[in-house]
Amino acid sequence: MFKFGFAKTATGTDEEDSDKKDKLEWISASKLEVTAEQIGAKYGADYYTETEVFPDYNLKLIRSDKVIKDLTKHNCQNIIEAETQHSDLIPAKYEGGLKIWECTFDLSQYILEEKIELKDKLIMDLGCGAGLIGLIALLKNSTVHFQDYNAEVLRSVTIPNVLLNFDNHANLLTKCEFYAGDWASLVTLFDDDENKKYDYIFTSETIYNPENHKKLYEIFKKRLKINGLGFVAGKTYYFGVGGGMRQFENLILKDGYFDVKLMWRSQNGVNREILKLTRKPYPEHCIFDV
Ligand SMILES: C[S@@+](CC[C@H](N)C(=O)[O-])C[C@H]1O[C@@H](n2cnc3c(N)ncnc32)[C@H](O)[C@@H]1O
Repeated sequence: MFKFGFAKTATGTDEEDSDKKDKLEWISASKLEVTAEQIGAKYGADYYTETEVFPDYNLKLIRSDKVIKDLTKHNCQNIIEAETQHSDLIPAKYEGGLKIWECTFDLSQYILEEKIELKDKLIMDLGCGAGLIGLIALLKNSTVHFQDYNAEVLRSVTIPNVLLNFDNHANLLTKCEFYAGDWASLVTLFDDDENKKYDYIFTSETIYNPENHKKLYEIFKKRLKINGLGFVAGKTYYFGVGGGMRQFENLILKDGYFDVKLMWRSQNGVNREILKLTRKPYPEHCIFDV
């Protein structure tokens, strides 16, 4: 079962849980610059594992023990605490980006198998964590904006992963940007910036918390190009947390701006799926005078 920071304790009550939720303070969105120290860092072979994550895609990924060491050095107690307690996330503090979740593999595989054209596209890896989907897009010559709630995850995992897989860092850094913080304020941060309209927005395992569905959806609505496509990979239902694909899909359909199509569904194990979002040419509530 998904381990959520609000898992009820022996003494906890529903009221306490809902009080806690009301009081959550979400971190504002901001752009994270890659520092000279990060660019100059020398990663020895013991810093990463190199594996053929997908056929023909050998990726170097920073080792988790090195990540924990880096987080400890930077005194990121919240995240270390969650990790050491084997808690997948603590709402509004740590949102699970250290681990690579299984739907990331589903979506990456889908992108590769369907040969989605990524050359010279602008892409958002939304809720990126380790950033596998964005890495594949970068390797296919896209420009990629990586977003994770936790700046610490971007700094200790995503950015090292990106740097590890490319030699020409000067060129690389013209092709990627990193954003931390809450989705609601990311929408505001990007307001009036026409350059932040994406050909594709990919997201994996981000719909577990229904409280965040509206914020997540607003990014697709405001930031996908008119002919852009959104892909959402996730478990059909997140037991113990409450979020699920049908709930997220219904919210989108009710708003009337997008068509939603089921593109892939797992055949065994936990039910997982991939949805595609396409803008409707004429949203249902647009009434035209003729
Ligand atoms: C469970 S992790 C999944 C990470 C990665 N996509 C994967 O599949 O391995 C959820 C991701 O969504 C992001 N996220 C969750 N809630 C968020 C919020 N309210 N605002 C911004 N990002 C959020 C987290 O930072 C994290 O990157």
